[in-house]
Amino acid sequence: MIPMPPRWMIFTGAVAALALAIPPFVIARVRATPDANRPVHIFFDMDFQPKFKTQAVNPLFADGRTQRPEVQGVVAQGETRLDAHLYEGVVGGEWATTLPAGLTMNEQFLLRGQERYNIFCAVCHGYAGFGDGAVNKRAMELMSNAGGPVDGTAWVQAKSLHDPLVREHSVGLLYNIVTNGIRNMAGYEAQIDLEDRWAIAAYVQALQLSQNATIQDVPPELRDKLPKDVAQGEGGSAGTAATTTTAAADTTEVK
Ligand code: HEC
Repeated sequence: MIPMPPRWMIFTGAVAALALAIPPFVIARVRATPDANRPVHIFFDMDFQPKFKTQAVNPLFADGRTQRPEVQGVVAQGETRLDAHLYEGVVGGEWATTLPAGLTMNEQFLLRGQERYNIFCAVCHGYAGFGDGAVNKRAMELMSNAGGPVDGTAWVQAKSLHDPLVREHSVGLLYNIVTNGIRNMAGYEAQIDLEDRWAIAAYVQALQLSQNATIQDVPPELRDKLPKDVAQGEGGSAGTAATTTTAAADTTEVK
């Protein structure tokens, strides 16, 4: 049997154990308290670095600014943007009617455009482009509130892309609208890549054709494949032909 240590020993041991708990507590406390000029800096992390912060005064330059202005007449690599067709959708002062060199119109390109359109544009313009997207519907609901628009909502109806005027837009103009926006619609240059903006423009034209097509737009060898009632409408029942094309678009979407 181990004899109990003397009382004073137990007491000293307990006090020592308590005292040992103080430093970690102080450290935790100091580190958790926000302080611009921390008096006790236990871990340096990367708090001290020989550098100038954005708005700080910089004695190295005559004007004392750390942030340097752009050097006059210098263009950053890859930002010349001399190709007006590619960047603005303009050819010889007119809206381009063709895709810029390097982009090819094919099924893959249109599918990419459809995918991007469904992500970025359908919320307002609707999947088929009639200006009836979910955001638009909700905003119109708020606008028609009996006691005036809720919370000062202001909304301009998203335009139908089948509006006769919009249907006249060339691919270059559509690209420009996606890039820079138009009137109340914001531009999407910051969110959507250059090529994808062209793909969306091409897809908008496909959507427009889908709602305004005649049997003559279907290659003769494919007309047999159309449902009977559509094929019989030879000579152009726009409405029915359109339904078929939209249905085709829906199928690709599901894949
Ligand atoms: C936040 C809602 C919203 C989104 C998202 C949106 N639009 Fe619009 N769009 C509008 C509104 C609103 C107008 C009508 C603007 C006006 O008349 O002031 C419009 C107008 C247009 C027009 C008609 C321009 C004309 O000549 O009258 C086109 C084309 C168009 N949008 C294409 C697109 C495409 C393509 C996308 C996707 C990249 C897109 N929009 C995304 C709200 C939106």
